[in-house]
Amino acid sequence: MSKVIEIRQITRDFPLGNETVKVLKGIDLDIDRGEYVAFMGPSGSGKSTLMNLLGCLDTPTSGHYILNGKDVSQMKDDELAEIRNKEIGFVFQTFNLLPRTTALENVALPMIYAGYNKTDRIKRAEEVLTNVGLGDRMDHKPNQLSGGQRQRVAVGRALVNKPSIILADEPTGNLDSKTSLEIMNLFDEIHAAGNTVILVTHEEEVAEHAHRVIRLRDGMVESDERKEILSQ
Ligand SMILES: Nc1ncnc2c1ncn2[C@@H]1O[C@H](COP(=O)(O)OP(=O)(O)OP(=O)(O)O)[C@@H](O)[C@H]1O
Ligand SMILES: [Mg+2]
Repeated sequence: MSKVIEIRQITRDFPLGNETVKVLKGIDLDIDRGEYVAFMGPSGSGKSTLMNLLGCLDTPTSGHYILNGKDVSQMKDDELAEIRNKEIGFVFQTFNLLPRTTALENVALPMIYAGYNKTDRIKRAEEVLTNVGLGDRMDHKPNQLSGGQRQRVAVGRALVNKPSIILADEPTGNLDSKTSLEIMNLFDEIHAAGNTVILVTHEEEVAEHAHRVIRLRDGMVESDERKEILSQ
């Protein structure tokens, strides 16, 4: 199987006053194309810091991050922005949608940066919104949508450029349990369609959807378990 992510001895330090906080302390990780991974671990263990690195929102202090065979660890901001737009779909706990903008426009936005023309953008955004179950909500603005619907828009926006990986940092953290399950069923479908899905969660029921659970503790990998997939 081809590797989409190779991480070698990644560290991330943050300056804090006169001191340095060592948040990630040397992480090694390989993730294959098509995997469904959940990161778990206590608050402060470094999950979001690692997700931000995986999502090219940040670069490591040392070590290497190879995304689709390309070392992105030392890239400059503009190069990273291009990689991010092409290869990464990011879903946040707080949705992060543009408030005065319709669901359709929110989903189409990453396609503007990717250089698609308006007709293609609208066509693709309509297709994606229909796939996430919002075919009848395209013209609604975020405040006219429920929490679960907003997260569906965010998932649609993450998918629109057909990225190599979908990253989601506590995507159900602001949702009730029924809506969480709907969103997780959506991630299951996205994974079943052949996508690589990597998420962070505090909830065991959410992590159960993944096929591999990696637990972080104090900036290191504590355990990494693949579920037995029973062949039929
Ligand atoms: N920009 C920063 N400057 C200084 N310290 C930081 C910075 N970002 C994160 N940290 C520290 O890194 C540690 C890990 O933070 P991170 O957000 O990755 O944790 P987490 O595992 O996602 O926690 P949670 O489950 O609460 O979301 C924390 O102790 C945090 O204070
Ligand atoms: Mg976090």
